[in-house]
Amino acid sequence: MPVEANRYLDPNDGPGEDDNSLRPLSLDDFLGQEKLKEKLSIFIRAARARGEALDHTLLYGPPGLGKTTLAGIIAREMGGQLRVTTGPSLERTGDLAAILSNLEPNDVLFIDEIHRLPNAVEEILYPAMEDYALHIIVGKGPLANNICLPLPGFTLVGATTRLGLLTSPLRARFGIVEQLSPYSEAELVRIVARGARVLGLTIREEASMEIARRSRGTPRIALRLLRRVRDVAEVRSLEAIDAGTANAAMDMLGLDDLGLDEGDRRILKVIVELFNGGPVGLSTLGAALNEEVQTIEDIYEPFLIQQGFIERTPRGRRATRNSWLYLGKTPPPEELDQWQMRLPIEEGAET
Ligand SMILES: Nc1ncnc2c1ncn2[C@@H]1O[C@H](COP(=O)(O)OP(=O)(O)OP(=O)(O)O)[C@@H](O)[C@H]1O
Ligand SMILES: [Mg+2]
Repeated sequence: MPVEANRYLDPNDGPGEDDNSLRPLSLDDFLGQEKLKEKLSIFIRAARARGEALDHTLLYGPPGLGKTTLAGIIAREMGGQLRVTTGPSLERTGDLAAILSNLEPNDVLFIDEIHRLPNAVEEILYPAMEDYALHIIVGKGPLANNICLPLPGFTLVGATTRLGLLTSPLRARFGIVEQLSPYSEAELVRIVARGARVLGLTIREEASMEIARRSRGTPRIALRLLRRVRDVAEVRSLEAIDAGTANAAMDMLGLDDLGLDEGDRRILKVIVELFNGGPVGLSTLGAALNEEVQTIEDIYEPFLIQQGFIERTPRGRRATRNSWLYLGKTPPPEELDQWQMRLPIEEGAET
């Protein structure tokens, strides 16, 4: 059974998920990322005071941390419209040209997954970003005509989970490049509390903490868990969500006290039981789990490493003592471990 079975902790959004009603509309409502917010608010105020569009902004960081939300907030604060598109959906230069030529002053053009923009389309973007100009070729062969249309002052907001895949000419054209990093538990508690308020729920602080603790630093996960906890509270006709209800709901979802789910446990079990604790290469691990390497690397591994359950070694992933203990097994004695690793070298040295 692939890890698929339990996706409550997937930071990527599911179909129809990101409930727009829960999206903060202003910088004040956007909780956490304080440094980033402070900078953005200064840049926005300065641009407005000059009567110019905000400089093009590149937001990068793991899924579910608020890149799309921030693009919306920027548009609102700049008094423009938000136009949303994605890198892979802009297949032809004409697709982008059509969007660009319909922009109005201060609009925000949001391109999600901007690292997946086709090359030819990306080239249309360069003059658009630099000179607010749209260069298009009309006609073919000797009769082809290069025409240049002026564009209004707009802001391109690009989002990517993989900064390294952006070409350098594109990256160089962003005046603002900012990283979103995972949220602290305290910030997630505030995000859950705000979400509850918007949904009209009463939630006790301890319950918000139980949710925040299992959210992997990701608002999208926190809000998803909140919605599932709400289901349980509604079915039980509870007026207020307390820690007991939150815990019961998360038990039901297969999330344990430490915030590990079925998928995490499978990974630990495979490393410990099948590979005797590792190290095991990522692709071998993927094959054993019947799971894509990318999924393990992006979704499961960061949390397991951060919580001290697995570690990266030059020879692959290794389960720590914590994993053995977590699975109720006796970890191999550490000294013996080192001894065994050294043995062949010492034997070789003596002969
Ligand atoms: N700082 C925040 N405060 C409150 N809610 C937030 C915050 N950041 C994100 N959210 C909520 O989390 C959800 C996911 O946010 P968003 O869609 O902006 O993430 P993203 O970074 O664009 O993810 P992806 O990379 O998958 O596109 C949304 O429902 C949004 O309302
Ligand atoms: Mg997004």
